[in-house]
Amino acid sequence: MGVSRLVLLVALNVIVSPHLTASHSIPTYFNRLNPDGSLMDVKSPEYWIKLPTMDQEPLRNPQDYKGTLKVHPSVIDNGESVTVSWHSIQGANMTDFIALYCPAEDTHDRFLDYLYLNETKTLHKLGKGFVQVKLYNMRVSCEMRYFSYDGHGVPVLKARSNTVEFKGRSAIPLQGRIALTGDPTEMRVMWTSGTDSNPVVMYGMNKTLTHKATGKSSTYRAQDMCGFPANGIGFRDPGFLHDVLIADLKPATRYFYQYGSEEAMGPMLNFTTAPIPGADVPVKFVAYADMGVSPTPGAEVTARYSLEEVKNGAELVLHFGDISYARGYAYLWDKWHSLIEPYATRVPYMVGIGNHEQDHTTGASKDPSGAGKGFHPSWGNFGDDSGGECGVPMFHRFHMPDNGNALWWYSFDYGSVHFVMMSTEHNFTRGSTQYKWLEADLKAVNHKVTPWIVFMGHRPMYTSQLVQGLNPTIALHMQAEIEDLLMEYSVDLALWGHYHSYERTCPVYRNKCTSGGPTHIIVGTAGFDVTLDPWPIPARSWSVYHSSNYGYGRVTVANATAMLWEWVINESDYVADRVWLYK
Ligand SMILES: *[C@@H]1O[C@H](CO)[C@@H](O)[C@H](O)[C@H]1NC(C)=O
Ligand SMILES: *[C@@H]1O[C@H](CO)[C@@H](O)[C@H](O)[C@H]1NC(C)=O
Ligand SMILES: *[C@@H]1O[C@H](CO)[C@@H](O)[C@H](O)[C@H]1NC(C)=O
Ligand SMILES: *[C@@H]1O[C@H](CO)[C@@H](O)[C@H](O)[C@H]1NC(C)=O
Ligand SMILES: *[C@@H]1O[C@H](CO)[C@@H](O)[C@H](O)[C@H]1NC(C)=O
Ligand SMILES: *[C@@H]1O[C@H](CO)[C@@H](O)[C@H](O)[C@H]1NC(C)=O
Ligand SMILES: *[C@@H]1O[C@H](CO)[C@@H](O)[C@H](O)[C@H]1NC(C)=O
Repeated sequence: MGVSRLVLLVALNVIVSPHLTASHSIPTYFNRLNPDGSLMDVKSPEYWIKLPTMDQEPLRNPQDYKGTLKVHPSVIDNGESVTVSWHSIQGANMTDFIALYCPAEDTHDRFLDYLYLNETKTLHKLGKGFVQVKLYNMRVSCEMRYFSYDGHGVPVLKARSNTVEFKGRSAIPLQGRIALTGDPTEMRVMWTSGTDSNPVVMYGMNKTLTHKATGKSSTYRAQDMCGFPANGIGFRDPGFLHDVLIADLKPATRYFYQYGSEEAMGPMLNFTTAPIPGADVPVKFVAYADMGVSPTPGAEVTARYSLEEVKNGAELVLHFGDISYARGYAYLWDKWHSLIEPYATRVPYMVGIGNHEQDHTTGASKDPSGAGKGFHPSWGNFGDDSGGECGVPMFHRFHMPDNGNALWWYSFDYGSVHFVMMSTEHNFTRGSTQYKWLEADLKAVNHKVTPWIVFMGHRPMYTSQLVQGLNPTIALHMQAEIEDLLMEYSVDLALWGHYHSYERTCPVYRNKCTSGGPTHIIVGTAGFDVTLDPWPIPARSWSVYHSSNYGYGRVTVANATAMLWEWVINESDYVADRVWLYK
C-alpha cells in the first residue's frame, strides 16, 4: 500500500507539474485574457506589437484620419471607467486594435496596453463600436489611438482620441498609506503625486485640523534599478513618494487628517493611533501575502473584504511579501496602490519584502538594502524574481519602523503583541547581520507587556506542498538556522506566504508537533493565482489543514492568554479554518 502510494505520488509529480504550477504571468494594464480565459502575459513576445515611433508615423496628415475615436468622460478620477467609442473608421477589420498612451503625447511604441476589436463590442457594421476600460492615474493625461494593418501588414494610425485628464492633474495626492513607527504617539503618512512641492499633513482631533506636519519626498529613476525590465521597457515615472511623520499624538485616539500640498489636498480621512502596549490590550488584524492586482476572485476580493474587516474593527494590515507583483512593470504599482488605498489610509499597512520585490542577480551597487549582489546560497533559488526592481520601489513607497533595516527587517509592539518582520530574501544564517538582529530583538521582548509574539517572513519554514522546486530545501535551511530562535523566545504564530495556498501546522518544533512550539501558517492566498500543485498523501504529521483557495487571515487577540486565528476564504466571510491559541 505504502509503496504504491509513493509510486503514484512520483508519477503525479512528473506528469502533472508542468500543467499545474502557477504561470506567474504579468497582467496587462487592462487585465486582458487569452482566448482560453487565462491572464495574458506581457512577457510573451506576441504581446509586443511592433509599432513605429512618432517620426516614422505612416499617416501624419490629420485629414487622413477619417474615423472618429472618443473617450468619455474626458475628466476622471483615478481608477474610473471610461467608454472608448469609434465610428466611420474606413476599411475596418477585426485585426484592428486600440492602444492606450499615458502621457498622451507618448510615441506609438510606448503603449500601455491595447485591445483587438474582438475584445470590444463592435456593432453590426465594422467601423463602429465601443469598449469600457478603467484608467489609473499615472500623473499624466492619456489618449487612445486606433490602428489598422495595411495590405503589407504595416500598422497604420486611423484615429486619435481626445485627451483624458485626471481631476487635480499631477498635484492630486494618490496612493495614500499609513504606517506605524513603533511609538504609539506617532503615525507615518505616505502618498504619491506628480509634484514635489512641500508635502504636508493637516491633522487634529476634530475636523478643524489645527495641526500641520511636513516631511520629505523622493523618487527613483530607471537607472536607479538593478536590471531589466525595471530599468527599461517596464519603467514609468513613479512621481514623488511623500513621507510625513506625525508626532506628539495621544495613544489610542482618533485623529482626522488630510494630506497633499499647497496645490491640492486629498479628502478628510481619519486614523486611530496605537494603544500603549499592555498584556490585556486586545488586537484585531488582517494578515496575508502574495497579492498582486488580479481581478475577482483574486486580489480584488481580498481588497474588498479587507476594507470590510477594517470597518468592523481590524486595526492593522500585515502583508508579508509579494506585494504588487510589478516585477519591473511600473503600471502595476499604480494599479495595486489603488486597490489597497481605501483601507491603507484608515489603518496602518505594514509590509515585508518578497522574492518578487527583492531578488536580483545584477546591479549589486543599487540594492538599497545594502545586500550587494543579494543572497544566493548554493541550496536556494534566489534569482531574478523582482524583474530588476531589487527593492527600490518598495524602499521609496514604504517606510517601516526604523529599529532594524528599513522595511527588510523590523519589529514593533501593538497592544499585547510584539510583531517581527524578517526578510527571507537576505542572509538569515547564524552569524549574519539579520540573524543577530532577530536574536537581539526576540531576546529583548518583555513578555509581561507583550505576551504574544507574531513572527513574519515571506518564504515558509514549514510546507508540505509538492512540486515547488527548491523551496522545500530553503524551508529546511530556515528550520536549521532560525527555528531555534522561534522556539527559545516563545514565538506563538509564524506567518508566511510564497506558496499560493494555505497550510496550518500544529505547534511544531523540529518536524514534530510540540506543545509550546510556534504554529506556522502559510497564507499566500491574497490574490495571485492559487497553485494547484498536489498535496502529499498521507499529510505530513505536523500539517493540520491545507487548501488551495483565495483568502486572508484574520486574527483576534482576545487577551493575554487567548488568540483566535481565522482563514477567511473569498466567499463572503466564510471561515474555512479556525484555531484558538492559548497560553
Ligand atoms: C483583414 O486583415 C487581414 C490581415 O491583414 C487581411 O488578410 C484581410 O483581407 C482583411 N480583411 C478585410 C475585409 O479587409
Ligand atoms: C482577436 O484577434 C487577434 C488578432 O487578430 C487574435 O490574435 C486573437 O486570438 C483574437 N482573440 C480572440 C479571443 O478571438
Ligand atoms: C477642535 O479642536 C481644537 C484643538 O484641538 C479646539 O480648540 C476646538 O475647540 C475644537 N473644535 C470643536 C468644534 O470641537
Ligand atoms: C473615519 O473615516 C471613515 C472613512 O474613511 C468614515 O467612514 C468614518 O465615518 C470616519 N469616522 C468618523 C468618526 O468620522
Ligand atoms: C472564490 O474563488 C473561487 C476560485 O478559487 C471562485 O470560483 C469563486 O467564484 C470565488 N468567489 C467569489 C465570491 O469571488
Ligand atoms: C551569510 O552570512 C554568513 C555569516 O556572515 C556568511 O558566512 C555566509 O557566507 C553568508 N551566506 C551567503 C550565501 O551570503
Ligand atoms: C481570554 O479570552 C478568552 C476567549 O474570549 C476567554 O475564554 C477567557 O476567559 C479570557 N481570559 C481572561 C483571563 O479574561
